[in-house]
Amino acid sequence: MVARVDVPGRWPLVGHTVRLLRNPVEFLSSLPASGDVVRIFLGPLPVFLVITPELAWQVLSTDAAKFDKGVVFDKMRPLFGDGLATSNGAFNQRQRRMVLPAFSRARIEGYAEHTMRTYAENLADQWKPGEIVQVDKRMQDVVLSIAARTLFSAELGPRVLDEIRRSIPIMLKYVLVRAFSPPFVEKLPIPANRRFDEAAARLREVIPEVVVTAREQGVDHGDLLSTFLAARDEETGEPMSDEQIRDEVVTILTTGAETTAVALSWFFHEIGRRPDVRRRFHEEIDSVVGDRPVEFADLPKLEYTHRIINEIVRRTPPIILMRRAREDLVLGGVRIKKGTEVAVSQHTLHRNPRYFPQPDRFDPDRWAPDRAAELPKGAFIPFGAGARFCPGHFFAQTEIAMVAATIARRWQLDPVPGLRVYAQVKATMQPNQLPMTAVLRRNDP
Ligand code: HEM
Repeated sequence: MVARVDVPGRWPLVGHTVRLLRNPVEFLSSLPASGDVVRIFLGPLPVFLVITPELAWQVLSTDAAKFDKGVVFDKMRPLFGDGLATSNGAFNQRQRRMVLPAFSRARIEGYAEHTMRTYAENLADQWKPGEIVQVDKRMQDVVLSIAARTLFSAELGPRVLDEIRRSIPIMLKYVLVRAFSPPFVEKLPIPANRRFDEAAARLREVIPEVVVTAREQGVDHGDLLSTFLAARDEETGEPMSDEQIRDEVVTILTTGAETTAVALSWFFHEIGRRPDVRRRFHEEIDSVVGDRPVEFADLPKLEYTHRIINEIVRRTPPIILMRRAREDLVLGGVRIKKGTEVAVSQHTLHRNPRYFPQPDRFDPDRWAPDRAAELPKGAFIPFGAGARFCPGHFFAQTEIAMVAATIARRWQLDPVPGLRVYAQVKATMQPNQLPMTAVLRRNDP
């Protein structure tokens, strides 16, 4: 057996949490120097973090059945209930089978043609030449609106839409700090806890009303909710209960919206800093799409755009993927006892210079066709891997390409000189600010 390596710089009570949340890229990419499996502390909790692609693949894929989601997700259960992200074991597998049809290619084509493009065009319609646009905020709005509309069709939920727009950003602001804090912190009567709890309670209250109404109507609106209502367990023939549907809706709104909005923000930020990349991106949009609206069928042809998207999700993935061992096992020669928390860091994996030379460089051309397939399993996992692979990955890639292309057809977004934009950790790696100047490329009907 190999001894685990303890990461230095642990503070009393908070462990490495402050370093992790203050600068995750610096902290997580400094770890490989320490060993293949290292021990860090999130608050008082010891966590064994695996460093190599092989071990990441073992945890997420080959040995997936030996792990639950762990303590962070236990803490999120009051918010997500037993939705896809928080549930474990056979229940999770059953839910996944029932939810996945909502993310089929045909369904996503419908969401792209009806919802994603419409909201992106509405946004592009609002800007004036020379206007300073708060790109991070506008991406949050557009992505949350798309998420809400693909879940519930328009007639069903205007009041719910307002509540979603109000509650989700509040919850996302506090969820990670709460998850990585010692248990007593969430019981403290501080505003952060009160706001989080109130927002979670409001959301969990309004969504069931919509579910009940939709069930009574019994019509397929072509939205996610209709797919959930129609889903049947393949063994028992049972439908999903209203509580399960509520939990899946809250899960999808919270996991799907922020991640995608953040990717879109970094997309415009990075291409704004690299005129050569932006020129190629614009040339691709102009030659594939021209002067008509972007169509779903255009998206696979936007090869360079997808290279940019890959490079964005390589550099700014979610902070860390957490698991808990369901049994004793060995990882990279280190003995892991049942109940131990284990983590995979995409930041560490995605900045490994062996697979990504000059890892800090923003270089879409490292994603030449087939490059991802040449990487070893576990080296590039922006959407996770194995049993808990992101069910929204195609939805997200479609949405990022559709929104970016629709905006770029008409607008070029220029950085505001002299502003410092950097990643701050909320539930994801958000830009601290992102004002950009809208420069007209094409006047459009
Ligand atoms: C750029 C956008 C996105 C990124 C980078 C991303 C990334 C991820 C990752 C890494 C996981 C695995 C977590 C783990 O293994 O612990 C995950 C899970 C999940 N994602 Fe995404 N995601 C994105 C967009 C979406 C969208 C648009 C949706 C839904 C519409 C979604 C729904 C989910 C759900 C429900 C899970 C939980 C799956 C499970 O635990 O079994 N995601 N996502």
